[in-house]
Amino acid sequence: MAFVYSFLKGIIFTFLFFVLAVVMYLAFWFIVRPFKKRKHFQRYSDTIGYSPTFVPFLGDYKHLNEEYIQKGKFIGHFLRDLALGYGKKKAFFGSLGMDDMVFVNDVEYLTDISKLVPHYLDREPIDTTGFGRVGGTGGLGQSKTTKYWKKRRQIFTKTIGINQASRFIPIFLKHCQKGVKTFEEGMTINMSEHANTVSFEIISEILYGCDIRDKLEKVNYTKRDGTTEIVNLYQCLMKISHDCSFAALNPLNVMFPWLVHYSIGAENKRNTKNSDEFERVIRDICAKSQDSNSVYNQVLKTGEIDKEMAYKDVMAILFAGHETTSKSLCSALFQLKKNPEVEKKLKQEIDEYILQNGKYTVNDLAEILNSQSLDQMDYLSCFVKEVLRHDPPAVRSLGYKAKASFKVKDLLIPKNQIVVFNLYAAQYDEKQWKEPTKFIPERFDPSSDYFLTPSGKQRHPYAFCPFTFGTRTCPGRAIGLMEFKILLIYFMLAIDYEVEKETLENPDVTYAILSPYALNLKINKINV
Ligand code: HEM
Repeated sequence: MAFVYSFLKGIIFTFLFFVLAVVMYLAFWFIVRPFKKRKHFQRYSDTIGYSPTFVPFLGDYKHLNEEYIQKGKFIGHFLRDLALGYGKKKAFFGSLGMDDMVFVNDVEYLTDISKLVPHYLDREPIDTTGFGRVGGTGGLGQSKTTKYWKKRRQIFTKTIGINQASRFIPIFLKHCQKGVKTFEEGMTINMSEHANTVSFEIISEILYGCDIRDKLEKVNYTKRDGTTEIVNLYQCLMKISHDCSFAALNPLNVMFPWLVHYSIGAENKRNTKNSDEFERVIRDICAKSQDSNSVYNQVLKTGEIDKEMAYKDVMAILFAGHETTSKSLCSALFQLKKNPEVEKKLKQEIDEYILQNGKYTVNDLAEILNSQSLDQMDYLSCFVKEVLRHDPPAVRSLGYKAKASFKVKDLLIPKNQIVVFNLYAAQYDEKQWKEPTKFIPERFDPSSDYFLTPSGKQRHPYAFCPFTFGTRTCPGRAIGLMEFKILLIYFMLAIDYEVEKETLENPDVTYAILSPYALNLKINKINV
């Protein structure tokens, strides 16, 4: 009897001890730690902003949910509002559940902080079982800045960098042409989806080779009700991205990120299962790819990167290199209809430099387009830059983690703090840009009044930063810009389209990554 009693007592004590440990753990991560961090940053309240009220557990989720998610708006516009509303603050401290971030909100601070990469700030590998792996966990974008990373980056830059970008022109055009063949006059198409498909097919062919189509296996995607659906690779990636971004906004996952990490809960389990399936198919494609021109095979040929690493790096590029361009294209097609005088000017330039005043048509682009003809087009260059300034497809940098505490001007950033660059802050800065919320391509033309800052000075070199800057800047800048320009010229020439008036007049519409808006185009005429 005494034995049973002491046994039960032992179990109860162990249980109580366990409950106490969990409560203390939760209290530390969700109340004590964020509260202490807020207290730390309150000492610098002239420099850094934070939400007026501290909400334990959820942090700023309540505000984001009420202002953006529930209203169907783009959550990233929080950063645009931060740039405009908190203009006088150089940074903003925000928290979501266990995570918190410092958003750098000022060009001078951005400049100083980016110089501290990688010695004081570096990437933090994210190992979320669901999204992270599909997004290239441990690949180029998530690895720390080691010697091996530098070597890999150099090798990849050689295969996709400025000197290589023009060899991809036929691939860009081939996939545009294939897509437009499915259009019919009078139909309304979801351009966001179409552009994503085109850019995904482009980057897949560049990375895995031209034989990818024949080898492309169908993917088993598990739906919410547990049944499976056969989809293609692109559809699978889109579905996983959608499911994982949805899961990322689930309050439970916000509060306890390890639920995602360890695939706890039906939705997280499903996301992991789908990511596993996607990974299986990509690995299979890598194993079968014979095209010696593919980036994957070229990188392996150097003998300097092992197979597993090359696989992860290529996955990172697949993920980073398709939506950025397709979203930019949608913003461009949208802005053309919003600003008819801009459209007219750009069409004139394309007519003059590319079509040579009626000598050629859209069907001749494969023969006449090259990097020199693109470089001659000053207005195209201004327009593309203004799209990337006004509607950056990535509204913030990836995360950087402080390796040690450091001071940037007056602000002390503690060790382990996650820091992110708010790109709107630089690109909508009223000290750098005249009327920053307006869409004016001429602001990149040195002969225009809009070229200088409102006080008549040269703009800060980091005021325009859609690819960020420094050691971890986007390595796809050259290929991304060229692809963007070619897709834009092709679609402008291949279709006459219109966008609904209601969409054009809605100031919340944006096509940045994770935006809930889709661009619908009514096709009036097909010119191919
Ligand atoms: C208009 C097109 C694009 C834009 C605006 C863009 C923008 C960005 C931004 C803002 C970052 C984060 C940099 C940081 O955290 O400081 C990034 C990273 C990255 N981008 Fe792009 N990108 C574009 C196209 C591409 C393309 C086409 C590729 C590949 C072919 C690519 C590959 C990458 C990679 C691998 C990273 C991670 C870099 C690192 O951590 O070292 N991007 N990009």
